[in-house]
Amino acid sequence: MTDEFPPRLDADPRHPSLVFRRAEVRDHARVVGVIGPWWERPGTERLAMLLPRLFFQHFADTSTVVEDERGELAGFLIGFRSQSQPEVAYVHFVGVRPDQRRTGLARVLYERFFEAMRARGCRRVDAITGPANVRSQDFHRSMGFELTGDTVIDAVPAWRDYDGPGEHRVGFTRAL
Ligand SMILES: CC(C)(COP(=O)(O)OP(=O)(O)OC[C@H]1O[C@@H](n2cnc3c(N)ncnc32)[C@H](O)[C@@H]1OP(=O)(O)O)[C@@H](O)C(=O)NCCC(=O)NCCS
Repeated sequence: MTDEFPPRLDADPRHPSLVFRRAEVRDHARVVGVIGPWWERPGTERLAMLLPRLFFQHFADTSTVVEDERGELAGFLIGFRSQSQPEVAYVHFVGVRPDQRRTGLARVLYERFFEAMRARGCRRVDAITGPANVRSQDFHRSMGFELTGDTVIDAVPAWRDYDGPGEHRVGFTRAL
């Protein structure tokens, strides 16, 4: 495998009409534009602040964008290999358009990311979410992740004040 995702990735037999390709800087505006609508919970527009342009400049080669036959955004995964812990890969954001859900699209995005990170020598993949994002917790459990935390918040393990006062996070970790 080359060191970078190729610009256009292989089609997926389960999603033959969708195009998978490496993320590019020009994708930034439309990806942040869908975070509020796709996350579907009040206040989630502010999550867009967690995805600045730098991810599309400096983590593009390990991030994927999926488009439908009309060129509309159908899904994306923003991930990278840890610079400080090279054996660790990290999924920063994943999103699938509501009408494309439960078809295995996020599973494909994750499995491809796992494969690419394994090929680079990673042994573990991590991610986080908020205690309120039950859908993300269910998805990550289905993908074989363990939920981690130092306490229990809203009936799930969570790290208290992980990202600052009141900013509790559920940890996800999975061996590769
Ligand atoms: C979470 C999300 C990415 C899942 O995408 P998806 O394409 O619908 O997921 P998939 O169809 O690939 O499902 C993969 C597995 O997760 C499970 N899963 C997915 N959504 C689920 C849900 N809402 N409830 C329970 N399980 C779910 C599926 O059952 C499947 O398990 P299986 O393969 O063992 O049957 C999507 O719902 C989404 O974009 N949500 C809004 C954004 C978000 O919360 N992102 C994650 C936090 S960063």
